[in-house]
Amino acid sequence: MRICVYPGSFDPITCGHMDIIERIVDMFDRVVIGVLQNREKQPLFSLDERLGYIRRCTPGYENVEVEAFDGLLVDFARAKNALYIVRGLRAVSDFEFEFQMASMNKKLYPEAETIFLMTNTKYSFLSSSMVREVGRWGGCLRGLVPGEILPDLMKRLKNSL
Ligand code: PNS
Repeated sequence: MRICVYPGSFDPITCGHMDIIERIVDMFDRVVIGVLQNREKQPLFSLDERLGYIRRCTPGYENVEVEAFDGLLVDFARAKNALYIVRGLRAVSDFEFEFQMASMNKKLYPEAETIFLMTNTKYSFLSSSMVREVGRWGGCLRGLVPGEILPDLMKRLKNSL
């Protein structure tokens, strides 16, 4: 059984994340979306909110589960019996961090492979931090975050000022 972990902060989930998820559900038997609890980088959205938003966007996928993790990604991947770690790459600027992370994860968990998927170019400018910034000031997030959570997210972000 091919199992992958798709890890991230998902603060919040964007259409760029969804684009990756829609593609990997057909590539793997099981997709575990791992949401980092993130004690150092204080996220805007609580862990429950981030998990809830992702779950609301992925109800139709039988092979997807959404779970929180803390500590090392490789420990989470091992616990899930996942031999693949999926990351999206938007631009060259992502490369350095991703290269370091993949190399470190390879050292810690040699059996696992990091698989990079190029994000659809229509989302190459998109990030969770951009979504937070635009949403905070009342900008329209249509096409940037999944429709299932758009109204709630826009309301929530406007209230975060
Ligand atoms: O969405 P993000 O913030 O780019 O995701 C980063 C994430 C969660 C994949 C990364 O920070 C992570 O794996 N953190 C867990 C701690 C860890 O394993 N660090 C060692 C790898 S360098």
